[in-house]
Formats: sequence, structure tokens, C-alpha cells
Amino acid sequence: MKPIISPSILSADFAHLADEIDMLNQSEADWIHCDIMDGVFVPNISFGFPVLKHVVKLSNKPLDVHLMIVQPEKFIPEIKALGAYIMNVHYETCPHLHRVIQQIRDAGMEPAVTLNPSTPVSLLKDIINDVYMVLLMGVNPGFGGQKFIENTVKKTRELRDLINESGSRALIEIDGGVNINTGARLIEAGADVLVAGNAVFSAADPLAAIEALKNL
Ligand code: DX5
Ligand code: ZN
Repeated sequence: MKPIISPSILSADFAHLADEIDMLNQSEADWIHCDIMDGVFVPNISFGFPVLKHVVKLSNKPLDVHLMIVQPEKFIPEIKALGAYIMNVHYETCPHLHRVIQQIRDAGMEPAVTLNPSTPVSLLKDIINDVYMVLLMGVNPGFGGQKFIENTVKKTRELRDLINESGSRALIEIDGGVNINTGARLIEAGADVLVAGNAVFSAADPLAAIEALKNL
């Protein structure tokens, strides 16, 4: 099975967003990864609904929305209104994660939970059968182009074991520091979905970079 590729537009050239989305439309990318930040949960602010409305209009790929914000459940209706396929919330922002996961599913989206690098996979034991996907951060969230944290490979293996043992069908997505080298090792460890910002948008040939990730 080829990996699912979800390029992160955080690293796109926002002055030429239409061209960047057009490139993704022509590429082998499966989804478009959209990073929403609030400057509270993470030390950066990215973009919000006014920008994403245009991304939706231009793109022909499902949206994989990653919310790095406190109280993400407040925005379930807005994310749904965009037509998002997946709504990713951070474990660290949801004291009532089970409720939020149900609310996302009830709204008609696929629910995913994201773990920071310091949050252990074992904490997912009682929610793993309720989520469509788990996103493991390969960097501390907030910025593109950071160095990959090696421990993520071990966490990917642990998560693969947890999923297999629990009979869950959750996908494993990795976000942060993914390139051809780290991507190959993550797939070997059990990852299904690779997010890539810098490795795609800073490449001399982004279409070829996506193709290379897809064929790992
Ligand atoms: C980081 C974001 C990532 C980021 C990945 O907080 O969640 O999606 O865009 O960027 P790269 O692939 O450059 O590490
Ligand atoms: Zn992300």
C-alpha cells in the first residue's frame, strides 16, 4: 500500500496561493494539510477561515485540518462549513476528548487526535477505537522546517502495536520533519500518512518531491 501524502500549506508561498494549490491539484497528493494556530497553544499564528475559504474553492483534494488551538470544539461548525474531511484536535487541548471526538463525528467529519512529542502513545488506549486517525508530531508544533525528533519512529512502532492489539482501524499520520529519509523509516515503523511542508514547498520540483514521498 502506498502512503497517503498530505502536503502542509503552512510552507506554501501565500503571495501565490492559487498557483501553489494548482500545483497540489496536479500532484499525487491525496489530501491538503491545513495548520491552524492560535498563538496560545503554540507560539505562532498561521491562518484562519478567511484564507481557508479560498483554499477550498481552489482545491480538488480533501482537507486534513490540524487545529493547534485551545478549545478546538468551539470551531466544529466552522470547520464543517469549510467542507473539511478530517478534523485533527490535540490531546493536550481536550480534557473531554471522548466528547469532542463524538461531536466531530456527529458533525459529519472524520475525527483525529494529535499527540505532541512529549505525550505518550499509551494515553490513547481508551480512545483508539473511536478515532479515524492518530497524528504523531515529529516536531514541537508551531513552525514548519524544524528538525525531526528521532523518538517519533519509536512512538510510531508503539502506536502500530496499540492499534493492532486493540483491533482499531485508525490510520497513523506523522507531521513535522518528514522528508524522504525520515519518511521511509516512518513507513517501515507503521505510518500510513505523511504530512510534508518544507520537503514539498522548498523543493526545486515540488511535484517530484510529492511523487517521491508517494513512492516510498
Ligand atoms: C507544525 C505543523 C506542520 C508543519 C510541518 O506545527 O503542524 O504541519 O507545517 O512542516 P515541515 O514538514 O516543514 O516540518
Ligand atoms: Zn500540521
